[in-house]
Amino acid sequence: MSISRWPLLAVAAAAALAVLAEDPFGEDCRSKTYPPAGPTFKGTVPTYIINLDLPPSRRWDKLLSDKKIELKTVIQSIKNIANAFVPSGKAVEIVDTKLVRLISTLPYPFNEELKGIANASGIPLGEIVLFNIFYEIFTVCTSIVAEDKSGKLYHARNLDFGLFLGWDIKNSSWIITQELKPLVVTLDFQRNNKTVFKSTNFAGYVGMVSGIKPGIFTLTMNERFSLDGGYIGIFEWILGRRDGMWMGFLTRTVLENGTSYQEAKDQLVKTRLLAPAYFILGGNKSGEGCVITRSRQAALDIWDLDANGGTWYVVETNYDRWKAPLVLDDRRTPAMKCMNQTKQENISLPTIYDVLSTKPILNKLTVCTTLMEVSEGRSESYLRECIGSCSPW
Ligand SMILES: *[C@@H]1O[C@H](CO)[C@@H](O)[C@H](O)[C@H]1NC(C)=O
Ligand SMILES: *[C@@H]1O[C@H](CO)[C@@H](O)[C@H](O)[C@H]1NC(C)=O
Ligand SMILES: *[C@@H]1O[C@H](CO)[C@@H](O)[C@H](O)[C@H]1NC(C)=O
Ligand SMILES: *[C@@H]1O[C@H](CO)[C@@H](O)[C@H](O)[C@H]1NC(C)=O
Ligand SMILES: *[C@@H]1O[C@H](CO)[C@@H](O)[C@H](O)[C@H]1NC(C)=O
Ligand SMILES: *[C@@H]1O[C@H](CO)[C@@H](O)[C@H](O)[C@H]1NC(C)=O
Ligand SMILES: *[C@@H]1O[C@H](CO)[C@@H](O)[C@H](O)[C@H]1NC(C)=O
Repeated sequence: MSISRWPLLAVAAAAALAVLAEDPFGEDCRSKTYPPAGPTFKGTVPTYIINLDLPPSRRWDKLLSDKKIELKTVIQSIKNIANAFVPSGKAVEIVDTKLVRLISTLPYPFNEELKGIANASGIPLGEIVLFNIFYEIFTVCTSIVAEDKSGKLYHARNLDFGLFLGWDIKNSSWIITQELKPLVVTLDFQRNNKTVFKSTNFAGYVGMVSGIKPGIFTLTMNERFSLDGGYIGIFEWILGRRDGMWMGFLTRTVLENGTSYQEAKDQLVKTRLLAPAYFILGGNKSGEGCVITRSRQAALDIWDLDANGGTWYVVETNYDRWKAPLVLDDRRTPAMKCMNQTKQENISLPTIYDVLSTKPILNKLTVCTTLMEVSEGRSESYLRECIGSCSPW
């Protein structure tokens, strides 16, 4: 089926772009970029309340009735790309028939929520399911957890999305990355009219890639491209072998129902997954911060903060920390260089925003930057733009 050809597309696009890439796209560490302004800042992100006291099928009504046009646009682009690879129109046919049947294999409340999203947006259910799978696969990111001298914890990330999903030659940008920006929302999940957690997300996706549980923990997820497992689990799931949890469903469950840093960490370490991932978790007291490198079955590595021992921050992009990043895609070294330059004495959300505004940490895939501070429950998200001489990823 068409979806299994995506990795080929990815390799072809990467090779083409590698040839096109000229000099390195780096720059000196930025400073004084906060409050966000200027050409790298594209706008603020609206907040929507998601009421967990409503039945799952009705929780997303307001959001999707506001965002259905933008969501249709992105899905149309995905279909155009799929059709270019499977010209017979079979790809879309498969999505509309086969993926719909899979809805009943998804756990509650996600199955009901996806049905509600399809109903509220008027978009066929199979396309909503496809869209949720895409979010799980095409997210590349930079995440940072840092502790200041007083033991206060900061957690921030650039959300980079749209890799290999079509390059717009006319204005040299990723089509899907551009089209996704209007879909970025901050979701305030509430029970009894009180915030349970907040998450910055794309409208239409029910998993979570970043979130804050005020006073308790912060969590982000980054994609881990790996040969040991890769996305085989997702294809197995489509074909009927459903052994493991969707990564975005796990992060959502942890954010919604986790009650402490330690409990969240245990669940992220132990739950069997459909694909490898990095979970970046921050807590509310000194030393509570880590990067968990996951295979489908187990945690391969846990990198904990240890400010007294000199580890006052952890950074994760999309590579295992014990391996060199791809030369063409090294966002880790520049991020660490800028963190080192900032120093623990001067770390804060504004100085972390500086780090995340430095190319190539900021690149053409960057959709938004999220800044979180757990003890005050602060969470801010900003849409980003990287124009001109800027790394394609
Ligand atoms: C701390 O960061 C701010 C914001 O970038 C900068 O203006 C200031 O010079 C820095 N202070 C020190 C001591 O590095
Ligand atoms: C579908 O949406 C309509 C309003 O757009 C609503 O009246 C109906 O109850 C919804 N159906 C389900 C199953 O949620
Ligand atoms: C690129 O083109 C798209 C659609 O034509 C537009 O929405 C977007 O703003 C453009 N991006 C840039 C960086 O010019
Ligand atoms: C939440 O607030 C609304 C209006 O502010 C009120 O009508 C509703 O009863 C409240 N719900 C709960 C569960 O407290
Ligand atoms: C989080 O940390 C702050 C500052 O140390 C503290 O005042 C607050 O009580 C903590 N919250 C929880 C839920 O432990
Ligand atoms: C969280 O727990 C509640 C109560 O057990 C359950 O109804 C809900 O589905 C859980 N949420 C998720 C995302 O699993
Ligand atoms: C940053 O500092 C750490 C700790 O001193 C060091 O191990 C690392 O090599 C530095 N990285 C860069 C890119 O400067």
